[in-house]
Amino acid sequence: MRIQVELNEKLQDYVADVSLRESDLQRELRSVTAKLPLHLMQISPEQGQFLGVLLRAIGAKRTVEVGVFTGYSLLSTALALPDDGRVVALDISEEWSAMALDYCKRAGVGHKVDLRVGDARASLAALLEQEGEAGSYDFVFIDADKENYYSYYESALELLRPGGLVAVDNVLWHGAVVDESAQDSETRALREFNAELHYDERVDLSVIPFADGLTFAVKR
Ligand SMILES: C[S@@+](CC[C@H](N)C(=O)[O-])C[C@H]1O[C@@H](n2cnc3c(N)ncnc32)[C@H](O)[C@@H]1O
Repeated sequence: MRIQVELNEKLQDYVADVSLRESDLQRELRSVTAKLPLHLMQISPEQGQFLGVLLRAIGAKRTVEVGVFTGYSLLSTALALPDDGRVVALDISEEWSAMALDYCKRAGVGHKVDLRVGDARASLAALLEQEGEAGSYDFVFIDADKENYYSYYESALELLRPGGLVAVDNVLWHGAVVDESAQDSETRALREFNAELHYDERVDLSVIPFADGLTFAVKR
């Protein structure tokens, strides 16, 4: 038997009531982002807090974020890193990532953010090939275009030290991964991505049905 509590709105509100510890700036960033047409791309505050707890638990100092948008996950990450920690933040949008950096600066954690605007595949290749950063990161968060997830994952595995962790958002894609009629490129890419990771012996794996589905893989 599988025990899985059904998350209705009342229970979700309760979880927020008894656990959320959002800063004023995080709350402001959420309300400003809520006015944008693509606001649903933002991670939830519970996810942001979880990210922070996770980073503290593993003692992360050097991290990479693929997919910044207006910066909720980036701000949560930068707040959780030690003062000499660093998050390399990758996004293709100049406008959104500028907003993200601005919030990090206002929160006093801008010095931890190394923002790189452009196609994340090229930025990751630069980190590996030009900057020689392979094997030197503790954590990578993947939350950008779904079609390139596998490529981001491969780069993440190269960037991580053994024992480093990669977290991947949206792997259940609103449940579309089990809907046979959903054949768009994002859903197909996520199905293939999930199937590839299942037997990838380079990592220890866990898929958690939290938010829109999160995969965790620890590099062996
Ligand atoms: C789901 S949003 C990220 C949400 C963010 N993590 C948050 O907490 O608000 C996806 C982001 O990926 C970016 N993106 C899409 N394609 C990209 C690419 N090829 N390279 C870099 N960033 C990309 C988009 O500009 C967008 O900001």
